[in-house]
Amino acid sequence: MKAKRIDRVLVTGGLGFIGRYTIDLLAEREYEVNILDKMEPQAHHWNRRSSKMGRPSSTVIIGDVRKREDVERALDGVDAVIHLAASVGVGQSMYEVERYVDNNTRGTATLLNAVIDRNPSIRKLVVASSMSVYGEGKYVCEVCGPAYPSDRTEDQLRDRQWEPNCPTCGRVLTAAATSEDRVLLPSSIYAQSKRHQEEMCLLIGRTYGIPTIALRYFSVYGPGQSLSNPYTGVCALFASRILNKKPPYLFEDGAQLRDFVSVFDVAQANLLALEKNEAGKAINVGSGTPSSIKDVARRLIGVLGARTRSYISGRYRKGDIRHCFADITLARDLLDYKPRITLEEGFKHFAAWAVKNIAIAQDRSKMALDELREKSLAI
Ligand SMILES: NC(=O)c1ccc[n+]([C@@H]2O[C@H](COP(=O)([O-])OP(=O)(O)OC[C@H]3O[C@@H](n4cnc5c(N)ncnc54)[C@H](O)[C@@H]3O)[C@@H](O)[C@H]2O)c1
Ligand SMILES: [Zn+2]
Repeated sequence: MKAKRIDRVLVTGGLGFIGRYTIDLLAEREYEVNILDKMEPQAHHWNRRSSKMGRPSSTVIIGDVRKREDVERALDGVDAVIHLAASVGVGQSMYEVERYVDNNTRGTATLLNAVIDRNPSIRKLVVASSMSVYGEGKYVCEVCGPAYPSDRTEDQLRDRQWEPNCPTCGRVLTAAATSEDRVLLPSSIYAQSKRHQEEMCLLIGRTYGIPTIALRYFSVYGPGQSLSNPYTGVCALFASRILNKKPPYLFEDGAQLRDFVSVFDVAQANLLALEKNEAGKAINVGSGTPSSIKDVARRLIGVLGARTRSYISGRYRKGDIRHCFADITLARDLLDYKPRITLEEGFKHFAAWAVKNIAIAQDRSKMALDELREKSLAI
């Protein structure tokens, strides 16, 4: 049974990867849905059909979250908003600064202004934030205890000393699960814009009494993820390379730890955030289990039945963090969130879909890497 107090939900970015799963769940729970999505070519060039997706019960508005008149239309009859629309790409945001700030920060500003001006009685606002707001994750120093290092220096990276050092005593640190109280040190324009989206929504929510939750998704993967967008989604990127008979290309030594969470679990978290009474907080959404990038590449090679091996480049990208994986205690406690899909199960499902969709797996990773190299952002 859905919560009675919400009937119609606006999902911005609802035709995107996470949006489509979220809409499916909303439809299953018999919510009515408005979708506002501009079909950004980078996210959709492989699948122009998605504009016809969604459900019969959903109203699709092809429009821009930065355009007041589009947002006004999309807010019609709505009593809750899930704000997913954004440009998504860490490296790319470092040379397309204006586009990322405009789309993510100004887009959110326009949405919030429209909500305040016309419908401040919105019963819930859920905004997609990101693990990237943390920058480096949480660490422990064997002598000094919990440690919060900032970015590794250029000299350190050039010397291939990949692990961060303790800011107090200089010892090499051990990674620990990152909880929401970690100081935010976003290390890209994308990450800054996600922080800004999150903080703007929480602030306006607090001020106008709109219950608001920011969800910090970790690395999301699953069927339907763009296999040809080289700017985001490391699983899709690796799968695309493997399907094109190329080895996954790993930066540093491939031992970076991340938290890979199934899109099914992320959609579940969106629904829980919508329905639970909790508000005024930023909450991690991950699997709670760390995986190294090289392990992820190895598993994908396995489930795709390929014969290749990963290429460990020893190269690096400026601003890349070393380790960050989620402490999901808060999501468990406040939202009753329980990740259901194991990496093994999730990857099998993802691989089965990717193999069937090999035709849309264009490996454009070299182009994206060349763009970074041109700007000296990758070495
Ligand atoms: N995929 C991940 O691993 C991940 C991780 C952390 C956070 N997030 C966040 O989750 C959200 C959804 O990500 P996704 O993976 O589904 O990305 P996606 O690119 O598949 O979906 C984003 C959707 O937003 C739409 N959009 C972009 N700008 C818009 C605008 N100005 N107006 C209207 N629509 C617009 C795009 O057309 C697209 O359909 C984003 O806010 C992203 O920052 C994603
Ligand atoms: Zn120390």
